[in-house]
Amino acid sequence: MSYSKSYSYPRPLYSIALAVGVLALFLIIASIMLVSYPLGSTLHGYLLGPDRYMNTDSIILNANQTKILPSSLDRSQDTNEDIVIKEPSSDFDVPTNSVDSAGAATDGVMVKGDASTLGVPNITLVSELKDMSSPSSFDRSKKIGTESSEASKKHDSRSCDLYSGKWIYDAAGPLYTNNTCPVITQMQNCQGNGRPDKDYENWRWKPEYCDLPRFDARKFLELMRGKTLAFVGDSVARNQMESMLCILWQVEAPKNRGNRRMQKWYFRSTSTTIVRIWSSWLVHKTSEHFEPVPDNVVKVHLDLPDEDFMEFLPKFDVVVLSSGHWFAKQSAYILNGTLVGGQLWWPKTAGKMQIKNIDAFAVSVESCLTAIASHPDFKGLAIVRTYSPDHYEGGAWNTGGSCTGKTKPATTVVTNEFTDMMHEKQVTSFAHAVEKIGASSKLRLMDITKPFGHRHDGHPGPYRSPDPNKVTKRGPNGEPPPQDCLHWCMPGPVDTWNEILLEIIRREFEDN
Ligand SMILES: *[C@@H]1O[C@H](CO)[C@@H](O)[C@H](O)[C@H]1NC(C)=O
Ligand SMILES: *[C@@H]1O[C@H](CO)[C@@H](O)[C@H](O)[C@H]1NC(C)=O
Ligand SMILES: *[C@@H]1O[C@H](CO)[C@@H](O)[C@H](O)[C@H]1NC(C)=O
Ligand SMILES: *[C@@H]1O[C@H](CO)[C@@H](O)[C@H](O)[C@H]1NC(C)=O
Repeated sequence: MSYSKSYSYPRPLYSIALAVGVLALFLIIASIMLVSYPLGSTLHGYLLGPDRYMNTDSIILNANQTKILPSSLDRSQDTNEDIVIKEPSSDFDVPTNSVDSAGAATDGVMVKGDASTLGVPNITLVSELKDMSSPSSFDRSKKIGTESSEASKKHDSRSCDLYSGKWIYDAAGPLYTNNTCPVITQMQNCQGNGRPDKDYENWRWKPEYCDLPRFDARKFLELMRGKTLAFVGDSVARNQMESMLCILWQVEAPKNRGNRRMQKWYFRSTSTTIVRIWSSWLVHKTSEHFEPVPDNVVKVHLDLPDEDFMEFLPKFDVVVLSSGHWFAKQSAYILNGTLVGGQLWWPKTAGKMQIKNIDAFAVSVESCLTAIASHPDFKGLAIVRTYSPDHYEGGAWNTGGSCTGKTKPATTVVTNEFTDMMHEKQVTSFAHAVEKIGASSKLRLMDITKPFGHRHDGHPGPYRSPDPNKVTKRGPNGEPPPQDCLHWCMPGPVDTWNEILLEIIRREFEDN
């Protein structure tokens, strides 16, 4: 009897045994991973969102965590990008100011460099930029002198400064939700991760002298008919690209045509393609041996644009470039074949460092933009999205900095010297590139740093995962929970970048 009984249920028993086996195997693999990664990266595995290009690459903001770097520097793997958030420890010294959320405080000091190449902030140049970033430089001559009331109206809608203004409450709500967009990286799915407040989704950017229209997906696709838009950069560029996809998804589900080199989505109705290419520095980087740099330190060639995207540049009609956050990470800077500087690393034998990370960033931006704008086969528009401000207030990302509990835009922005310096370098380098290329420049500046300095409410904070047991409140000693105050919730403020992008594209491509 008992035999026949057990005999009659062989399959359920077998499945249970199999399930237990799979679970055991999973636990073993999981524990091996936990052991072989440094402490701070233990969250890493589950932080990886539904990115198809999953791998071990990360934004690592601490020299002591760079053990992850070597394997991830391999080009085939350099496509994913999730911030590693270290469990905060109360043993850390809290810095006296919020200079830098990215571990670069000690190196964030500006160094004297060759002013002609490294760039000195120039007020005149900066204010001119506002002009260059918006209207098409081609029809500039047309505008001067012929200002009928109609023409001046047109002039206004094409040249109004998009970057000075304010955030206003708008109950119309976001353009999509976590339930209507299937491509939100889980780390940015704040509502899906249990974030209790929602008002951060309801603020619109209002430029002082004009309106920034709500994103019109049909209009965007029409303007981009037959064209390709590419996002090139790090995980924050991915953030923007996914926001764009989510917005467009509301009118049309695109076809996935991605491959190993790039993410690619195709909108059949207008033959529009949206591309994303991972490039953390925008310039060439290598893990090849370079004396006297240790093999595990990435070598960043500041004067060579990153071939990973340059190769495809002629195919792009609009390319949105962004970089910056990786310059806080351990790296060695090479210019014209010579080691000139380093971040979180420098050998005593190499003498005085010529370039620190912030100036290295300036050089990389200028050389990359110059190469793009002077590329003979690139006929499109290159838009630089400026440094995305983070909000680890009261400390750095790993020393008690926090954006927890922020539910509305800040009226006054806490100064972040690192952000300000990075932004200034980017703007100045952009201006230098435009100056070199001349009037026919294909370069535009999307200067979001200041407006987004107010949006300390727009980050995931502790709501980075759906884990019901995650810590979301401060601990007994007041220490904040592990959190992400760098990336942006989706939906959220990041959607505004795409409204600005549409406005830039409209100004370029729309018929008069
Ligand atoms: C790395 O860790 C060592 C000791 O473990 C410490 O002395 C050093 O300051 C750390 N470096 C950084 C950049 O945190
Ligand atoms: C800025 O640069 C322009 C030319 O590039 C120069 O004429 C002007 O004096 C500079 N202004 C400042 C404040 O350095
Ligand atoms: C979206 O967010 C809501 C909470 O607002 C949650 O109940 C739901 O599960 C989330 N959906 C997804 C797909 O994350
Ligand atoms: C680059 O280095 C070569 C020698 O290796 C030198 O001849 C050349 O002038 C350098 N170029 C610049 C721009 O410094």
